[in-house]
Amino acid sequence: MQASDTSSQLSAPRTAPASRRAVLTASLAVPAASAGVLGLSACDTGGDSTDPGVRPGERLAALDDVPVGEPTYVRTESGGEAYVYRSDDTTVAAFGTICTHQGCSVQPDGAELRCPCHQSVFDAATGEVVSGPAPSPLPAVRVTIEGEEIVAE
Ligand code: FES
Repeated sequence: MQASDTSSQLSAPRTAPASRRAVLTASLAVPAASAGVLGLSACDTGGDSTDPGVRPGERLAALDDVPVGEPTYVRTESGGEAYVYRSDDTTVAAFGTICTHQGCSVQPDGAELRCPCHQSVFDAATGEVVSGPAPSPLPAVRVTIEGEEIVAE
């Protein structure tokens, strides 16, 4: 049974990196909105960090997964992030999740998106600033409805 013991000891290190990788992957998959809830929504200090990173042709969500009147967070296969908003059954819009003031992650608040850092508020249907200090709207992601899917144009 000595060989069996050795085998167990050898297999342990092989599984450890996978566990660390799984934890890292899980932590990266946490929506930006959740980070803001926890007060971890660090403001960005530079670069074009408000770019949602959604690629043309990418699927954002199934139509049924986005309730009318509720901003819905989506993360695309390529890692793009956006809030998708349906004003009615046939009208859909999407916007980046990063506040245009200093780069915090916005969070849904009714039919609006609110920044927890300095309280800017954005209209979830248009991305426009409802109240500052944000200087400009959230970046729009051009989207369309294809069958039962919401897809970036
Ligand atoms: S970073 Fe959003 S209001 Fe300041």
